[in-house]
Amino acid sequence: MNHFILILIGFLVATPIANATETDSVTVPNTMAERVKACTICHGDEDRAGRDAYYPRIAGKPQGYLFNQLLNFRDGRRYYQPMAILLENMSDEYLLEIAHYFSSLKLPYPPPEHINLQPEEIKLAEQLVFSGDPERELPACSACHGDNLMGVEPFIPGLLGLSRVYIAAQLGSWRNGGVMRGQTPDCMSEIAKQLASDETNAITKWLAVQPASGNPNPVTALAPELAHRCHSIVQENGAAK
Ligand code: HEC
Ligand code: HEC
Repeated sequence: MNHFILILIGFLVATPIANATETDSVTVPNTMAERVKACTICHGDEDRAGRDAYYPRIAGKPQGYLFNQLLNFRDGRRYYQPMAILLENMSDEYLLEIAHYFSSLKLPYPPPEHINLQPEEIKLAEQLVFSGDPERELPACSACHGDNLMGVEPFIPGLLGLSRVYIAAQLGSWRNGGVMRGQTPDCMSEIAKQLASDETNAITKWLAVQPASGNPNPVTALAPELAHRCHSIVQENGAAK
């Protein structure tokens, strides 16, 4: 694994932007598409899923969201060691450029997964995704992630086109609290902790079987009370505007 990572680092640091003082005559690819090959080894060649379902697609996600994740991995707020090593010496400016590059790739989504859901699971998932549970003050997923669940620029990612394994891992790390998954406290960890395991399970499966339209959500801002819940992400950490 170490050898693999070293090769990846070679890709990224030997670039004019990552290392502006580099004067050696290394043959360096000069476009962002070449430089991010270190990323697409795992994340897939821009449009496809990566080597397995655990590697999330990053193309076309909101720029501010991607930028925040890159900062989170680099600064230890989200844990995945190979990425932390890769991003270690990159400046905020360079990470913003990478976020911009992947965000602007508008590519077709993979087909939905085939998973059997029981009718009760579908009902439970649709209820929580589109209506939430007012009694528990649990907002609908769609209230923040958009009516079409394709995300809200610039900080909220879409929920479709992700694999079941990946979604389950994310909700799991927010719920368990042991593994950091971004800013704390944050709205997603509160929401994930409110969900019972059968609810998480039903939602995760349901999301993974929906086709992703790729159409942007027309709404461009969260309702004030939802923005307030997520303020550590959508306001204070707004460097990616
Ligand atoms: C060794 C494989 C590997 C490499 C190389 C890699 N990634 Fe990742 N990346 C992952 C995995 C696995 C995750 C999910 C980790 C998790 O569950 O938190 C991830 C997550 C992400 C996320 C968060 C996605 C989301 O929807 O929240 C972004 C953004 C990202 N990577 C960007 C990059 C960029 C940019 C590069 C190149 C500089 C890169 N990655 C290189 C494996 C990799
Ligand atoms: C109050 C607003 C809000 C609500 C409601 C909400 N989310 Fe989120 N969600 C967010 C924010 C903000 C992020 C980005 C977190 C970050 O930047 O680390 C996010 C990120 C996610 C991600 C990560 C996607 C990726 O690409 O890694 C998943 C999965 C997710 N939410 C699932 C859900 C589900 C399922 C529900 C409903 C049960 C839900 N969310 C309800 C605000 C919300």
